[in-house]
This record gives sequence, C-alpha cells and structure tokens, in this order.
Amino acid sequence: MTKRRVYLGTNTKMYKSIAQTCSFLKELSELTAGLSREHLELFVIPSYTALEAARKAAPPSIIKLGAQNMAWLDEGPLTGEISPLMLREVGVEIVEIGHSERRHIFREDLETIRKKVLCAARHGFTVLLCVGETTEEKEAGCMDDALRIQLKSALHGLSPEYLSRLWVAYEPVWAIGENGTPASREYAEARHKALRETLCQLFGQGAAEVVPLLYGGSVNSENAVGLIGMDHIDGLFIGRSAWDARRFSAIIRDVLDSVYR
Ligand code: PGA
Repeated sequence: MTKRRVYLGTNTKMYKSIAQTCSFLKELSELTAGLSREHLELFVIPSYTALEAARKAAPPSIIKLGAQNMAWLDEGPLTGEISPLMLREVGVEIVEIGHSERRHIFREDLETIRKKVLCAARHGFTVLLCVGETTEEKEAGCMDDALRIQLKSALHGLSPEYLSRLWVAYEPVWAIGENGTPASREYAEARHKALRETLCQLFGQGAAEVVPLLYGGSVNSENAVGLIGMDHIDGLFIGRSAWDARRFSAIIRDVLDSVYR
C-alpha cells in the first residue's frame, strides 16, 4: 500500500535550552530543506520556554511546531498549566496529549485526557494523542483492550469534523526511553491495526482512514525503515534518536527513500 504521506517528528521532553532548540531546528531545516513536503510531515515538539524562539528558527512550511501538553480551559486557576490561547499566541500547531510520562508520572487519567483532546480540537490544533499499553497489560494479553479503552475514552464526544486534525501515536510504555525495548514491526503493526479498527467503529471506515497512526518507543536508525514499511504505520514519533539533527535527518532520508523510491 503506497503511503500518501509520512509523519516524522520528535518530542524533546525536558531537554534542550532555548539556544539548543533553535540551533537544532535551524540545522534540521537546512538538512531537510531539499526534501519535498508533499510526502513528508515533519514536526518538532520542544519545551514550552523554547516555543516562541523556535517559531522564528524554522518556518512552519518546513517544520511544524507542537506543545508537549495543554490544559483543558482557556484560562483559570490552574497553577503550572498552559492554556490553548497561550499556545496559539506563540504559533503552535500541534498539541501532544496523553504521553506515557503524563499518564504514568503525572497521573493524568482518562477523563483529563479526554477534556484536553476536546479542548485542543475545538481550538483548531492538530491533536497528537498518545496511547500505549503497560508491561502488565502486554503480559496479560490485553494490550488491544487497553488501547481501545484509551482511544475510545479520549475521543468520546469528539465531533467527526475534527478528525482531519487528529493524529494518534501508539507508544507502548515498555518501549519508551533508555530502558525501553522497541516493539517489533509485526507487534506494532498488529496494535496499529487494532487502533484503526477502533477508529472505524467510532467514525466509519472512510473517516478513520484519514487519521495517521504513528509508532513511538525506541525508534532508531536500525528499526525505522522496517516499521514504516508496515501497512498501518503512517509515521514515527521519535525521542532520543532524533535529538541530533544529523542523526534525525539521516533517519528521515532512509524512511523517505524506502517508502517512495
Ligand atoms: P524514545 O522516546 O524514542 O526515546 O524511546 C519516545 C517517546 O517518548 O515518545
């Protein structure tokens, strides 16, 4: 199945200063400037403090910019949170919601994530919803049930008109970070298939097919091409292996070469 487009991006988590983010973005945009954006959606999700400078460092036509989280209210007494209006002000286009670190370290529950998804959609952001099963759920064989619950709950009440701005990242908790083991491409493909089927149940076949499904969790230069070669994997959401612009651009080239050669 030929892919219309490949989605490749990184979340820099709590790494990189403002200056480091800007030099990363400048280098990445230079290294990828020659690649047609017809088939490539490239995005970077830096820290909040770097967002404004980041917007000036790379044009949106080359690199889309995202935020790592967002509150569910436009304003209010929510100390430490960030409003959708504030993100709009600095030119953010994508909002990442429900990353494993938010769910598991900061205890964001299904209802919190749902409220954030609906709010981000209403504000016109592209919503990058992250879902993923824990080691225990995998070992118990209920990974697809866990994914269905996370997906159905997060999208409950979402009007289909927002589907064209929904991306879903499948990131198994056990695959993320230095102690993680990447999912095999067959395993990831099976989970993506379950997610696609759930989207079909919720919104119908045609609508569900427009939602890109990205895999994340220890993606690197060795496994990226294999993963993107799977039918239901439309993109890769990369952490550590993308934080060096040269390394990331080499992965981007390999992936594009493998899909569109
Ligand atoms: P990783 O991070 O590629 O470093 O495992 C993935 C993520 O947290 O999205």
